[in-house]
Amino acid sequence: MMETKTQTLQAVSSISEMKEISQSFRKQNLTIGLVPTMGCLHEGHLNLVKRSLETCDRTVVSIFVNPTQFGPDEDLDTYPRQLQSDIEKLEGVDILFHPSNEEMYPTDYKTYVQVQDITEHLCGKSRPDLFKGVSTVVLKLFNIVRPHNAYFGEKDWQQLAVIEALVEDLNLDVVLNRVPIVREPDGLAMSSRNQYLSQQERQTALSLSRSLKEARDNIRQGTTSAKVISDLIRQGLSGKEGVEIDYISICDPKTFRGKEQVCGRTLIALAVKVGPSRLIDNCIIEEI
Ligand code: PAF
Repeated sequence: MMETKTQTLQAVSSISEMKEISQSFRKQNLTIGLVPTMGCLHEGHLNLVKRSLETCDRTVVSIFVNPTQFGPDEDLDTYPRQLQSDIEKLEGVDILFHPSNEEMYPTDYKTYVQVQDITEHLCGKSRPDLFKGVSTVVLKLFNIVRPHNAYFGEKDWQQLAVIEALVEDLNLDVVLNRVPIVREPDGLAMSSRNQYLSQQERQTALSLSRSLKEARDNIRQGTTSAKVISDLIRQGLSGKEGVEIDYISICDPKTFRGKEQVCGRTLIALAVKVGPSRLIDNCIIEEI
């Protein structure tokens, strides 16, 4: 007999319990959707949850601030944690999986997964630990939750490409669902790190989406030189207090190799520190 969907969210912190639940879902032929997060949930995450609720019989949201994807000088300790208010946002979700660090990485932990090549560009250059940590934790989550579907946002375009490579190269049985960036009404891409911004810094942060829009408009009007576009974006971002550009990349959206001309499908990706927050944003230029 098929189990009816429970109305209340079940919080699970043990890996063995999560595995048992997933096994029981699978035995009943229920499809499982996984939305992996580090918590501090915003509309971007909730949009991923919505997609899973629409297509899967059971939805699991994981909240785990993964220590292995933070570098030594990064914001692991201050990364916003607000489990209680996150729980209140998870309407309709079946399982919240929130393991402890000790559960995920016991003291004798030794195994890491490293996707090569595409991780050497963009964020991988300035955050060398990031993608090793992401691919390791995502593979662990896939093995624990055994989802049929997993949902990721396109704001982290490169992360998505890394996870796609992981799934393809390691022959994992999970369908990845890409979900477009969700923006605030004024254009700012939603991010948990927006929480660190003062009112003034938040205003400054708008220059990311604005400069991407300006770049897109210029490309539409016929500019194809990546240098011209990149200079234009730099101009839009520079000269503001507290702004430090990490990269402006005009590149192939699959290989992340830089382009000299905007031709064929092209990714424009930015990483910019605004005050205490390192923000990323991107847009895709379809074939021109
Ligand atoms: O995008 C994130 O929030 C994280 O990188 C992820 C995918 C949950 C892995 O920790």
